[in-house]
Amino acid sequence: MARQARIALALGLAAGIFTTGAFGATTVDGAAIGNEQDTSNWLSYGRTYSEQRYSPLDQINEKTVAGLKADWALELPTDRTLLATPIVVDGVMYISGSYSVVRAVDAKSGKVLWTYDPKTLEVAGDRQRIFWDSNRGVAFWKGKVFVATGDGRLNAIDAKTGKEVWSAVTIDPKLPMYINGAPRVFRDKVIIGNGGTEVGANRGYVTAYDTETGKQAWRFYIVPGNPADGFEDDTQAMAAKTWTGEWWKHGGGGNAWNGFTYDPEFNRIYIGTGNGSPWNRKIRSPGGGDNLFLCSIVALDADTGKYVWHYQTTPGESWDYNSNMDMVLADLTLKGKPVKALLHAPKNGFFYVIDRATGKLLSAEKFGKVDWADHIDLTTGRPVERKGARYEDGQELVWPSPFGVHNWHAMSFNPNTGLVYIPVTELPGLFTDKGVDPKLWQSPNFSIDPGVEFARDDIPVNAGTGALLAWDPVKQKPAWRVPQAGVWNGGTLTTAGNLVLEGNATGKLVAYRATTGDALWTFDAGLGISAPPVTYTVDGKQHIAVLVGWGGAGPSVGGSLLAQHGWSYKAQPRRLLSFSLEGNASLPAMPPPSFAKPLKQEDFKVDEMLAQQGNVLWTKHCVLCHGAGAVSGGYAPDLRASTIPLYDAALQDVVVNGSRQTAGMPRFHEFSAGDLKALQHYIRREARR
Ligand code: HEC
Repeated sequence: MARQARIALALGLAAGIFTTGAFGATTVDGAAIGNEQDTSNWLSYGRTYSEQRYSPLDQINEKTVAGLKADWALELPTDRTLLATPIVVDGVMYISGSYSVVRAVDAKSGKVLWTYDPKTLEVAGDRQRIFWDSNRGVAFWKGKVFVATGDGRLNAIDAKTGKEVWSAVTIDPKLPMYINGAPRVFRDKVIIGNGGTEVGANRGYVTAYDTETGKQAWRFYIVPGNPADGFEDDTQAMAAKTWTGEWWKHGGGGNAWNGFTYDPEFNRIYIGTGNGSPWNRKIRSPGGGDNLFLCSIVALDADTGKYVWHYQTTPGESWDYNSNMDMVLADLTLKGKPVKALLHAPKNGFFYVIDRATGKLLSAEKFGKVDWADHIDLTTGRPVERKGARYEDGQELVWPSPFGVHNWHAMSFNPNTGLVYIPVTELPGLFTDKGVDPKLWQSPNFSIDPGVEFARDDIPVNAGTGALLAWDPVKQKPAWRVPQAGVWNGGTLTTAGNLVLEGNATGKLVAYRATTGDALWTFDAGLGISAPPVTYTVDGKQHIAVLVGWGGAGPSVGGSLLAQHGWSYKAQPRRLLSFSLEGNASLPAMPPPSFAKPLKQEDFKVDEMLAQQGNVLWTKHCVLCHGAGAVSGGYAPDLRASTIPLYDAALQDVVVNGSRQTAGMPRFHEFSAGDLKALQHYIRREARR
């Protein structure tokens, strides 16, 4: 099949399809996505099924990279957050942007060929409160593009015309879940999960659909439901034995919002599962228990969705240490023996090497500052936890924070260097559940409450650090480490040119020597980069592309730590950038970093009681977009600097009447005049800090 695909490609070249930039001849099927040697395209989220994000291209290499220049920039004036991995098929790039708008772009010229708008906000209604505008990318299969929407649809689009072919509702409109992840495709099926463990009673699942028709093929629940309703199968009954109390009332969680890896060798799909709903196990499963399949890698039969094996990274999790991070397939030699390995670096800070034939753990070591557990016992496969880490007494400072040592920003694996390139964050979390009565606690409903205090106050500038880490998965040791100026840096790409490319929080796209970490080339994009770069060829010449559009949970949760870079709401335009060795574009300068100037309003007398009430409302309803301590990380306006909260009527108009709903500001129709007053006092108090 791979050969056929290549012949088709050659025919396409002969017919001049590529030079005209029209839609080409590659049949994007399992053989094509599994073909590690194809360098012209980037067909899947992690490039190929292995999710290695390694390209055999080497025209741009450690010697030539100094000459890398911009070819073109596509301005995206209506976009805010850009996190997606572009998919490239026969010289056409498919990108998803804010609110899951998809564009097909001519990779040669940067011209938009079509735009598909799923009208996410029109469908979302109140669900708008719980998701951001972000989308991590599309999938491609046999002439169709697949995109998931924040409101919970999975849509198929004709790749040539941009017209919708089918739309499947994957989330019951009553349920407090959303989607911002990229689907994956295999054997005429497309799979998607969901997110939402902080915003309501939530039972996570993944669903596979027929790529032609959109008909559901199978669904797998990640946590068991109410035993009184009967379990779906033996796997659910087995999982239920690891839960206590009445977990189903709180959903349980486990939502798979990011990592999925299809393994063609075993015809399995690996699901990286989420944390608990709520995070606090004292509430979720009061008698303890591992709570399967939270924070696990679950291997399912790709045809049936039936359970094959699992490995749980954080049994009985209590810190939001989910395993939603990417899972990379690699052939390693361990102690002289070839191993079909799965590599995984989840939030909890341990790097896992797993035998993917059996699901057996082979090794696990800390790859950053971690103190919730001392080590992983290789005989039991379980973490040896530190006493106190579960905030048994009601409060504990624990490394890492809920952001994790590694988040969704993809890592890459270079088979030549044998190294994995991981964006890491070192930041502690203060876990407090003082005053929370597990018996009285109730799940939120489209608002935020993880059962433990979360982002109640500002996050100081010096709270944490970030780095690019090159990790040797065989030795389970760092090879090199480059400190970075921010904690929220983009995913990585690695190539046969002995390069690692990464965009970072300070707005630089940097090429490093893959073996040593020496910085060889830097481009200042003028805005924090959160998306990972990709590489491919156009007319046989190597290109690199990246979306520039600061976003994700970091900039949304904000605080001074994320605000320090100056990527204020809408201050800098969003772009798609393309680079090559022959690039000669001169791009318009970006507006400089800008910082919110809080309005002090000395004549406003802050009532401390009201400000505290406002703080509670803020943490439940506003913090996920406007930032911790009312300090915006750039996702939404910094309300300390906004005049709107100064005027009752203006605030009422925006918050209660929903006058900015189509611009991304949800409506809170149930808010009373007293609620708004409390928010005003809270915002003014924070403005004077
Ligand atoms: C899902 C994300 C989200 C949530 C949750 C959210 N906002 Fe917003 N808000 C936005 C965005 C985005 C804008 C900017 C809209 C625009 O461009 O006009 C905004 C704008 C505003 C503005 C106008 C500011 C200005 O100067 O233009 C106010 C006031 C505001 N929000 C208050 C609140 C309050 C109070 C809450 C909590 C009750 C809240 N928001 C929750 C995303 C959010």
